[in-house]
Amino acid sequence: AQALLTPGDLAGVRVVVSAGGTREPIDPVRFLGNRSSGRQGVALAAEAAARGAEVTLVSAHISGDVLAEARHPSIRIVPVGAAADLAEAMTRESEVADVVVMAAAVADYRPVQVSERKLTKEGGGVPAIDLIENEDIVASLAAARRPGQLVVGFAAETPEDQAEMLARARGKQQRKGVDVLVVNEVGWERGFESVENAVHILGPGGVEAGAASGSKRAVAAAIWGVIAEQRVLNLS
Ligand code: CTP
Ligand code: CA
Repeated sequence: AQALLTPGDLAGVRVVVSAGGTREPIDPVRFLGNRSSGRQGVALAAEAAARGAEVTLVSAHISGDVLAEARHPSIRIVPVGAAADLAEAMTRESEVADVVVMAAAVADYRPVQVSERKLTKEGGGVPAIDLIENEDIVASLAAARRPGQLVVGFAAETPEDQAEMLARARGKQQRKGVDVLVVNEVGWERGFESVENAVHILGPGGVEAGAASGSKRAVAAAIWGVIAEQRVLNLS
């Protein structure tokens, strides 16, 4: 097992990672979005490639300078826009993946109506935007996974304390049916858009399989360590 945990432990493993944040169109010039920079997902893709994996990075609105860190001969980039595009790309790419990592921040809701023309103030009044819930992509991917395929989800939480955070995360892991859940405490200053990160990693059954903090690349290395261990267990 020792050799499997050193660089190269993902040799030949086919990985798909989603990263960034979806944008749900309102009209041709506006969208509903979130603050995800895509840095953690890009670090996961780069770390996997460095360890020998064949990586597809499904990128939702990641800026060029962040995406530059994913420049590697073993990383293929698939750009997407809204949650529905992300769902389609992940469903397709997951068909040939051994490990599926859903690090993207997906909009929970989208506008019911997308206006073909820019909304204007001309009519007077304040517009109301009706929303409808998006599909839970990672739950669908987990429900459809092949034997031996590992599905990894993330959870962004803004908890009162650590106990509440882990309880919420375990509930999420169960509801979504993912094998591994990476719990990310976020706040105005933490997690999103920042360079550093801190996570807890839950393995099957909600057991604490690891924790990491520091650069997003260091966090990515810890996450792949847990995933590599899980794959060893899954395959043996
Ligand atoms: N996710 C997804 N599809 C969605 C919403 C979320 O695949 N429509 C995925 C995210 O990519 C992440 C995980 O689900 O891997 C958890 O996302 P999070 O926003 O923390 O959980 P939600 O289930 O949306 O719960 P809530 O936002 O209410 O906390
Ligand atoms: Ca959500």
